[in-house]
Amino acid sequence: MIFQESKIFKNEEVLSPEHLPDLLPHREIQIKELANNLLPASKGRKPQNTFISGPPGIGKTAVVKFVFHEFEDFSERVKTIYINCWTFKTAHAILSEIAGDIGFLTQRRGWAKDEIVKRLIEGLSKINKSLIVCLDEVDQLKEEEVLYDLLRINQYVKNPVGLVFISNDPWIFVKVEPRIKSSLNIEEIVFKAYSLQEMGDILQKRIENAFCTNVESAALLLIANHAVRKGGDVRIGLECLLKAGRKAEEEISDKVRIEHVKKILPKEKAKSRILKERISATERTILKILEESKQLHSGELYKKYCSEVKSPLSERTFRDYVNHLAKIGLIRIKKRKIHGSVRIITKTDF
Ligand SMILES: Nc1ncnc2c1ncn2[C@@H]1O[C@H](COP(=O)(O)OP(=O)(O)OP(=O)(O)O)[C@@H](O)[C@H]1O
Ligand SMILES: [Mg+2]
Repeated sequence: MIFQESKIFKNEEVLSPEHLPDLLPHREIQIKELANNLLPASKGRKPQNTFISGPPGIGKTAVVKFVFHEFEDFSERVKTIYINCWTFKTAHAILSEIAGDIGFLTQRRGWAKDEIVKRLIEGLSKINKSLIVCLDEVDQLKEEEVLYDLLRINQYVKNPVGLVFISNDPWIFVKVEPRIKSSLNIEEIVFKAYSLQEMGDILQKRIENAFCTNVESAALLLIANHAVRKGGDVRIGLECLLKAGRKAEEEISDKVRIEHVKKILPKEKAKSRILKERISATERTILKILEESKQLHSGELYKKYCSEVKSPLSERTFRDYVNHLAKIGLIRIKKRKIHGSVRIITKTDF
């Protein structure tokens, strides 16, 4: 027989990063916190606007989508809309998307923004639901005035609009105009990276739904450890699981063994690609400088950075970005004692 059913996978799709699992282990506290913030909307009261920050691949998007889904099931008075600002960057695009989603904008092109806002307000009054909007990757937003537009809608609708923002960059709202910031009155939920034990539990749950065979516990541990060491992105763990499963399949094995994982790990370039796609513009600039200069003292690095960008961050804030890059393994910081303590920074070869 040329074609045979896989003896390893029952549903490979479960390992895709886009798959939204029914359970998000180790995010129970954050789920509860976000749910509590949004709950007033189910009674037509004002929800607590929320900002979620934290490093890549640790469930920020998944938690919001999960809570939105549950909230709509729980209350008929609520309409949730998820928007990724990589795709919708301008006020016009975002407002049209929202109006379209609630069914009050058939023709998207050619409308002025104020016209869209008008439709949106009419639409919201008609559906008589509280609107909750998530702007994911909000650092990609080109026009922060959309925040003002969304806040302004509140003056005209019975049920206040609730906003949820997500970003890797915890300082994103520091730069927002004070007037908008104070009207937003945001509460922050910080997501921390998973421990090795937590990563193992999360991957184990995915294994149960994706594989029809066993994954040796040593194999799982090796993958979880790899994902944690390389910055804690669950996507790295999922990609390794998929590759190890395929390797096991190729070798007509009855289960996924540690040898399969060892074979796929050295070739594994997912981390570098995923991380490089996800880091902030400041971090990208730092990597570019280090690529050209190989190694620099922290002071030199900051100087070069200041000459590269139009409005540089303060040295203190800049240092936090450098530390983050070191934490996720894209650069290395060595401390040297030369006339006091000096930090020497090099790029790693991921
Ligand atoms: N606690 C968890 N349980 C199950 N799966 C999880 C958990 N946390 C993250 N994941 C999975 O890891 C992948 C990445 O998660 P998610 O997209 O939510 O990351 P993120 O924090 O939004 O990252 P980024 O900042 O890069 O957008 C998804 O497939 C998600 O389902
Ligand atoms: Mg995300």
